[in-house]
Amino acid sequence: MFGSLNFKNPILVASGTFGYACEMEGVVDLSRLGGIIPKTVTLTPRPGNIPPRTVETASGLLNSIGLDNDGLDEFLQTKLPYLKKLGTKIIISIAVKNTEECPVFGEKLGAAKGIDAVELNISCPNVSGGIDFATDPKLCEEIVSKFRRVTPFPLLVKLSPNVGNIGDVAMGAESGGADGISAINTCLGLAVNWRQRRSRLGNGFGGLSGPAIKPIALRCIRQIFKAVRIPILGIGGIETIDDAMDFFVTGATAVQIGTAHFYNPTATMQILNRLPNALAELGAKNVAEIVGTLEM
Ligand SMILES: Cc1cc2nc3c(=O)[nH]c(=O)nc-3n(C[C@H](O)[C@H](O)[C@H](O)COP(=O)(O)O)c2cc1C
Repeated sequence: MFGSLNFKNPILVASGTFGYACEMEGVVDLSRLGGIIPKTVTLTPRPGNIPPRTVETASGLLNSIGLDNDGLDEFLQTKLPYLKKLGTKIIISIAVKNTEECPVFGEKLGAAKGIDAVELNISCPNVSGGIDFATDPKLCEEIVSKFRRVTPFPLLVKLSPNVGNIGDVAMGAESGGADGISAINTCLGLAVNWRQRRSRLGNGFGGLSGPAIKPIALRCIRQIFKAVRIPILGIGGIETIDDAMDFFVTGATAVQIGTAHFYNPTATMQILNRLPNALAELGAKNVAEIVGTLEM
């Protein structure tokens, strides 16, 4: 349970890697998913960063999309009506520029029907100003408590691995009133073309995702698990049932699949099919029985 939010199963899809879900219709049985987190929306439209915006690296993907989106009003009018018919939980991912935007978001989201929860993305590494809230426990607490006051929806806070101790930031989110922590967003990185002496991305640095970041994500999940009582949605390099099980025993109550969609679009369905047998191997009836049972 994430506040009053409960999923039919613990396999969800991560923001920015599954479009607005309609792109995956016919590939994935969308109603089987535990939940969908569409691309992050901002209050006003954003054109995103200059291309190239993605580059493949060893076991990973480096991106600098820059929160390209058409803004909250457009999302609520054109994307939400489709999403809410899918028979799964819809968690709206939002990014705020400052605390002043919180009441506006609260009002607009409150008026919209069909939202099950909000994921506050304070951790996008490709947007100036976007990451500040996730780098400091106090700033994190401040923005979360501001947002908590203006929305009745279950509130997840998405954290960045690009900090000293992510457990401390998670404590800030918990004190601010978060119902759960989503972790991790991408790891700040750089890919270089030495012949041109240039970054391979138009915007310089980017965020690394995919299998390369799984050990970092697991380390973060463990630190968060030790620091807070609220549940964790684990993210980072998950493609297989073994990846998902690693996250559960480390401390995640549910997981989100991200970059794997780009090379294995049905990864979520494969994980779901294999989950009962994997749990049975540990003598467990459900995921709750194994969350955080790792011994180090
Ligand atoms: C192309 C791309 C776009 C992304 N866009 C967003 C976004 O809009 N909002 C967000 O919170 N995370 C975004 N992410 C981060 C993912 O949701 C996820 O946290 C991260 O990629 C780590 O998981 P993964 O290794 O399974 O991809 C994006 C990731 C990628 C690769």
